[in-house]
Amino acid sequence: MNNKKYNDLKIEKADGKLGILLPGLGAVSTTFIAGILAIRKGLAEPFGSLTQMNHIRLGRRDENRNPMIKDFVPLVDLDNIYFAAWDIFEDNAYESALNAGVLDKALLDQVKDELSAIKPMKAVFDRKYVKKLDGPHVKKAANWYEYVELIREDIRNFKKKNNLDRLVMVWTGSTEIFMKPGDIHKDITSFEKALKENHPQIAPSMIYAWAAISEGIPYANGAPNLTADIPAMYQLAEKNGVPLAGKDFKTGQTLMKTIIAPGLKARMLGVEGWFSTNILGNRDGEVLDDPESFKTKEESKLSVLEHILQPDLYPDLYKDLYHKVRINYYPPRRDNKEGWDNIDIFGWLGYPMQIKIDFLCRDSILAAPIILDLVLFMDLAKRSGFKGIQEWLSFYFKSPIHAAELYPEHDLFIQLMKLKNTLRVLGGEKEITHLGLDYYI
Ligand SMILES: NC(=O)c1ccc[n+]([C@@H]2O[C@H](COP(=O)([O-])OP(=O)(O)OC[C@H]3O[C@@H](n4cnc5c(N)ncnc54)[C@H](O)[C@@H]3O)[C@@H](O)[C@H]2O)c1
Repeated sequence: MNNKKYNDLKIEKADGKLGILLPGLGAVSTTFIAGILAIRKGLAEPFGSLTQMNHIRLGRRDENRNPMIKDFVPLVDLDNIYFAAWDIFEDNAYESALNAGVLDKALLDQVKDELSAIKPMKAVFDRKYVKKLDGPHVKKAANWYEYVELIREDIRNFKKKNNLDRLVMVWTGSTEIFMKPGDIHKDITSFEKALKENHPQIAPSMIYAWAAISEGIPYANGAPNLTADIPAMYQLAEKNGVPLAGKDFKTGQTLMKTIIAPGLKARMLGVEGWFSTNILGNRDGEVLDDPESFKTKEESKLSVLEHILQPDLYPDLYKDLYHKVRINYYPPRRDNKEGWDNIDIFGWLGYPMQIKIDFLCRDSILAAPIILDLVLFMDLAKRSGFKGIQEWLSFYFKSPIHAAELYPEHDLFIQLMKLKNTLRVLGGEKEITHLGLDYYI
């Protein structure tokens, strides 16, 4: 992250209208949109969102200064948010939300008019990259480069029609097949050439990201796809002064993992095995039933423990850790996932113990507040002159993107400290490390 020096920071005001661009109008994005509409009408509360509910401690503990985050840094008001989406299906946001089955019809009906007015634009899609899906609502163009131009046109039209001041894009589309960074991803020139050559190592999600960054719009990836996690995108983001974040919203089982693993490590308890399995029955579950899409998710979920437990530093405790993650598509469950974890740990003198977790979670209910926070913080980052990878937003992701020379930070509590310290600095306050020798600090 090549952010400005802190003392040069001048944050632009959060005035005006913010447009939110969502490629993918499925369970997560409609739960997010319907939630914002319901919250605006006073029908529900934004539980799970730091920007709306969390306080931030400032200064010494005896100063008792704990403002709300939203009162401390300038964030866009929920009343000034506008939505646009793309999808391969024509269903409007109301129909798609009903179909996803996350929120009750009774709640959706109270925001039906606004939801029904959100009609997805035609998508950039190729079945090669999401094997389990196909839909009719797609654009036609000669090559990837032309697709980028079409998405840029959509973005500009949406901005103009609604008289918007700024925009943020968050990928809420399906998980694409596993891809590794290659030669065509290495810099802007190679990527642009590959766009014109319709190269197979470019996936549709990359088209949206490239279009957003080219338009100077902050971009966050909610899925584990490679997408913007390539040098060409980092370079374009730096060049255009655009903040980037990703990948894969940290919800459900991985959220639990990054809460529990730091605790076990903090107490120097060993972990011999961690078996995680899930059943879920939504469209995301169906997409992940394809081995190539699952591989993308699996990689994202597996990396977490290695980085938190640091087996290189603690070989006796973690070097033989057997970590397995399974996802099973089970339609009756719809969005109400069940995630089981069996954790084999050991303590004093090597005596074994077990922890069992059965998390009956609602995936999209956990993901929606993440989108809200990301959108508001990415807009804040842009107004603060931040550009490139935003590691302070790692808190929200399963596989945080990071500079090549650094390892990703997965520990939820370190991530939170980093996030809050960034906010403190943005608000002109001192960082709090909890490490000071002063009695009160
Ligand atoms: N729900 C969670 O807790 C959670 C957590 C982490 C990541 N995610 C990721 O978020 C994404 C969305 O999850 P969901 O539960 O809403 O899935 P979903 O299947 O309900 O919605 C995804 C939507 O994206 C559309 N889509 C696919 N390819 C597209 C394209 N190229 N352009 C435009 N639209 C496209 C699909 O038609 C679908 O409507 C998935 O990739 C999922 O892995 C979800």
